[in-house]
Amino acid sequence: MRLPFFLASRFVAGETLDEALPAVQALNDDGLHVALDLLGEHVHDRDVARQSRDTYIELVRTLDAVTPPERRNRISIKLSMLGQLIDEAFCLANLRALMEVAAEHDMFVRLDMEGSDLTDSTLSIFETMHADFPDHIGPVLQAMLKRTDRDIDRMCELGVSVRLCKGAYGEPAARAYQDMDVIRARFTDYMQRLLKHTPYSGIATHDDSLIRATKQFAADESISRDRFEFQMLYGLRPDTQREMAADGYNMMVYVPYGTEWFPYFYRRLRERKENVFFLLKNFMRT
Ligand code: FDA
Repeated sequence: MRLPFFLASRFVAGETLDEALPAVQALNDDGLHVALDLLGEHVHDRDVARQSRDTYIELVRTLDAVTPPERRNRISIKLSMLGQLIDEAFCLANLRALMEVAAEHDMFVRLDMEGSDLTDSTLSIFETMHADFPDHIGPVLQAMLKRTDRDIDRMCELGVSVRLCKGAYGEPAARAYQDMDVIRARFTDYMQRLLKHTPYSGIATHDDSLIRATKQFAADESISRDRFEFQMLYGLRPDTQREMAADGYNMMVYVPYGTEWFPYFYRRLRERKENVFFLLKNFMRT
């Protein structure tokens, strides 16, 4: 059974790019930067992976054409959509084709991080591409994973832009911290290292305690506001997003769109019970 799209419409900007673009424009008009994400993951068919690559290439061209000069719009992509689970070399070739067009348009490409079975492969593909496109690609690191301590060191050494988040996937205790206080403490430590040692990293969280810690650290260390950005998801805390931009912080909103919205939608419900209540309330209204 396919669920009706309106259930996900709080978190997903539309099922097509044409439906999503007005949301991008509204965010840009309010001073927010945007990362557009065409939803899709775990592709096992080469033709589907090639189609995803081509759709992303068109997306880069369209997004560049509608982006005002003062906004840092970009794309975000999951490598499992480009064939990572089929064959790494095939995925790399698809990503290279996308990166060539992205670099032509001076557009940054963020590689979303998926479950921990894909972390090694994603970071290895990232490093290969980073050698050829150093200014246009960056990874995501998840504070909950125990390995992230080392990965942060490596990214600081390379001096690349990282998106730091807690991690949205259910992970075993052997690989990931399960206690939220520990995850917050790890997040805070990683945020400090990224702000100090990378040129422009993204602090991706809706968590007030982590947002406060980031602002405080930047102020204490005299790290200027153009050296980092905050990031939030489309539909979550929209007033806070606008307040932070009005307050002089770079704020980026991750805007997903597409017909393959269910896994993304499910992760949003899983991480916060208030999102489930919101869904039920809307469902009762129909
Ligand atoms: P969390 O849900 O843990 O909530 C902590 C506290 O924040 C709450 O108790 C409340 O105080 C406050 N809060 C949260 N939501 C609120 C709301 N709507 N209104 C009011 N208060 C609220 N994950 C991943 O594994 N790979 C990835 O590539 C990405 N990419 C990504 C991009 C961006 C831009 C973001 C923001 C997040 C991701 N994530 C991700 C998801 C991330 O790992 C994580 O699952 C979610 O952001 C939830 O964790 P938070 O720290 O945001 O708050």
